[in-house]
Amino acid sequence: MTDHISHDVLIIGTGLAGLRAAISCAKTNEKLDIGVISKVQAMRSHSVSAEGGTAAVLFSEEGDNIESHIYDTIRGSDFLCDQDVAEKLAHEIPKEIYQLDRWGMPWSRREDGRIDQRKFGGYSFPRATYAQDKVGFYEMQTLYDTCLKYGNIHFYNEWFCTSILDDGNNNFAGVTAIEIKNGNFNVFKSNSGIIATGGAGRLYSFSTYAYSSTPDGLDMAYRSRLALKDMEFVQFHPTGILPSGILITEGARGEGGYLINNLGERFMKNYAPEKLELAPRDVVSRSMIKEIEDGRGFKHETGVDCLKLDLTHLGEERIKDRLAGIREIGIKFSGVDIISEPIEIRPVCHYMMGGIHTDIYGQTEMNGLWSAGEAACNSLHGANRLGANSTSECLVWGNITGRLAADYANKKKGMMIPIADNKVMSEEKRIYDGIFRGRGQVNPYDIRKEFSDLMDVKAYIFRNENQLTEGLKKVRELKKLSWKHVDDSAKEYNTNFINVMEIDSLLRVGEVIIVGALNRLESRGAHFRTDYPHRDDVNFLKHTLAYFKGDDEPHLSWHPVTLTRYVPAERKY
Ligand code: FUM
Repeated sequence: MTDHISHDVLIIGTGLAGLRAAISCAKTNEKLDIGVISKVQAMRSHSVSAEGGTAAVLFSEEGDNIESHIYDTIRGSDFLCDQDVAEKLAHEIPKEIYQLDRWGMPWSRREDGRIDQRKFGGYSFPRATYAQDKVGFYEMQTLYDTCLKYGNIHFYNEWFCTSILDDGNNNFAGVTAIEIKNGNFNVFKSNSGIIATGGAGRLYSFSTYAYSSTPDGLDMAYRSRLALKDMEFVQFHPTGILPSGILITEGARGEGGYLINNLGERFMKNYAPEKLELAPRDVVSRSMIKEIEDGRGFKHETGVDCLKLDLTHLGEERIKDRLAGIREIGIKFSGVDIISEPIEIRPVCHYMMGGIHTDIYGQTEMNGLWSAGEAACNSLHGANRLGANSTSECLVWGNITGRLAADYANKKKGMMIPIADNKVMSEEKRIYDGIFRGRGQVNPYDIRKEFSDLMDVKAYIFRNENQLTEGLKKVRELKKLSWKHVDDSAKEYNTNFINVMEIDSLLRVGEVIIVGALNRLESRGAHFRTDYPHRDDVNFLKHTLAYFKGDDEPHLSWHPVTLTRYVPAERKY
């Protein structure tokens, strides 16, 4: 028998966007009853790993200005971002910085007590608001503490959502979810929802993401016939350490760090003479691979090619004061103390510019359902996100979608939420017959490894038709193997079961990335096709939409880019 739980608003995901949305809902209407669901404990959401900063214009008296934040974002996006969305971000984010401050956020400060900011790549002004190098952790703690002050926010930690429910007329009606603690299948009913399940960087093996960052939230939307947008644009951050891929913040270069090749040269002078190491990530990561291909890289002890990040000239005091977190990471996970020696790094999967297709307000294609944060694609980042604009996006669109979902829930309060019984039953069947009681010889963890290793090679920084076609063929072969089975039959805390569900979502969403990349016959932002090395605004200044139509292959269409005042131009750094 399936249990039913009802809330006025349901928020799926407890990262920065989900928590910010919960507070916004609760403040908008204290009479609303808000359910917040996460497959992990809230404070284990991947947002806690954000390191370097949150971009905002705070010092107009010193020369910074909103117009510049807007244009830097648009130029950084290689002109694929929706320009009205960039305008909204730049106008709204300063308020969020001060709001967090009032809620207790321990921002790093200048001598005079004002909030400090540091340089980040692609910006014309030091604009990354920071708290040492643990920005995400402190922001999450601040938001979580604030959530706890509201009696109308209820957390469901360690519940794995499996599908979105609707009423048969494209109105949101809730989700199905497994309570991990006991394995029970449940229905959450609600008229109003927000998907804030974050990014899916575990599509790649070499990744800065937590192991839990799989695309189950994206896949749930996709299987509900909501479009995934611009999924071919995957960001590779220049500085992941070896062998783990853990992030060394761009803040390290913002503080003055150098990237060096095996000749000891700061090679970025040859690629981005003005911005050097602080060019946008797509530019820096490509330059690094070029250096390696031209024989100027280092070999890590594992045999992997890499370059080095040199921070030794910053001095012990500055590193301990501003970069203590990455120093600890370097010592523990690479055996290198950045105070005394350069650290080996290489470009690593770090962010998905794509996500669930929404409009500027985070509204999805389903009535009553919004999406915010990295799970969403409101087209703020276009083809390449600037560092520090992601936490900004989570805060701004967490707030916006929370308010809208609350208003919508208020209008619908007391109304029936009809859910077709067959939808719940068919989902239960998909999960329990198709996965939990599945049969097969192939080890699902081997499939996961083979798949994400494949993505590292076939859909990395430089792509071409042959590689992508081979990748697609292989993913389709993997999908067909008999790996959908769960060997652990326990009901309680069956992580084997949850992992197999995650692998199911990895393969479907991975296929969307590769098909999108094959279809985009140009190079723009993070998507570089060696066989189409130029940006093509005539044919490809448009967003990719991918729809699932039940036949298990993505169906693509295009969506226009919103241009306001900024004419696409060549990017030079
Ligand atoms: O390098 C970093 O600290 C990452 C920041 C971001 O992705 O926004």
